[in-house]
Amino acid sequence: SDRPRALSGIQPTAGSFHLGNYLGAIRQYVALQETHDAFYMVVDLHAITVPQDPAELRANTRLAAAQLLAAGLDPERCTLFIQSHVPEHAQLGWIMNCLTGFGEASRMTQFKDKSAKQGTDRATVGLFTYPILQVADILLYQANAVPVGEDQRQHIELTRDLAERFNTRFGDTFTIPAPHIVKEVAKIYDLQDPTIKMSKSASTPKGLINLLDEPKTTAKKIKSAVTDTDTVIRFDPVNKPGVSNLLTIQSTLTGKSVAELEAEYEGRMYGALKTDLADIMVDFVTPFRSRTQEYLDDPETLDSILAKGAEKARAVAAETLAATYDRVGF
Ligand code: ADP
Ligand code: NA
Repeated sequence: SDRPRALSGIQPTAGSFHLGNYLGAIRQYVALQETHDAFYMVVDLHAITVPQDPAELRANTRLAAAQLLAAGLDPERCTLFIQSHVPEHAQLGWIMNCLTGFGEASRMTQFKDKSAKQGTDRATVGLFTYPILQVADILLYQANAVPVGEDQRQHIELTRDLAERFNTRFGDTFTIPAPHIVKEVAKIYDLQDPTIKMSKSASTPKGLINLLDEPKTTAKKIKSAVTDTDTVIRFDPVNKPGVSNLLTIQSTLTGKSVAELEAEYEGRMYGALKTDLADIMVDFVTPFRSRTQEYLDDPETLDSILAKGAEKARAVAAETLAATYDRVGF
């Protein structure tokens, strides 16, 4: 393929992806299939950097893959696989560990945030070196573009630094990737506290839209979203974060601009905005749920898609690893 190569990974998550994951990440994956030679993986190696239950991890990993397919990833148009099915990730990860300065790794702010949450004594070395495994994830595929959120920018910088360091020390081996931070990518906020990001860990149950919720639960959550005491439907994230969040969600799902929506709702009440968005969400999640369930009910098909994906991924990863081993002196 002469298309630029893209790579992204998403963590398996308990139960379901949420609306923020979909609008902020998965939707971009689906779009990039059309313009890039795209590799997407469920990063189960990253998931064990914090304590996990084996049966849950296995189920969540499959559920994540089923949801990615249900959201529109097409195994004919991209390579979808499970990270642990491709042992080259851990193998290149070790080499990258040996290329990274301890101080350099210590400066990764995500580790500071995450280990502070767990207590520094309980945090694993795996959590500490997680950005370095991420470096290997990217470099293995010679990716040009890495679709990530703003919070991952520092890790892409590390990837570029290590790729350049390796290339300088051992000879040209790795493509230097660029972050593919989609400017207009939606950031979705909690429906009950629209000043915080919608997130699995920080959101309140009523503020979090799980994509696999019963559609009527989804509608109810939208209809009870917190707004403000004003009545005007206007995009103003500072003064009207709740209304602005609803406009962002509707705009992203329908492709209408926020300005178009503001015009459409001029003189109308918040109830109308919520009812419409509830309908739009129900139309989106209903087929999403049934497609996800179809993949879960047909484990042979899912296994075969993932096995083919791993095979395609390994063909690329093995070539990069062989070149790297040779350069290192193995
Ligand atoms: P969470 O914050 O719920 O733990 P992750 O950190 O696993 O979710 O995020 C997975 C992907 O979803 C990332 O690409 C991230 O940028 C995106 N994402 C997560 N929450 C949101 C949100 N509220 N709005 C937009 N994108 C989000
Ligand atoms: Na997060």
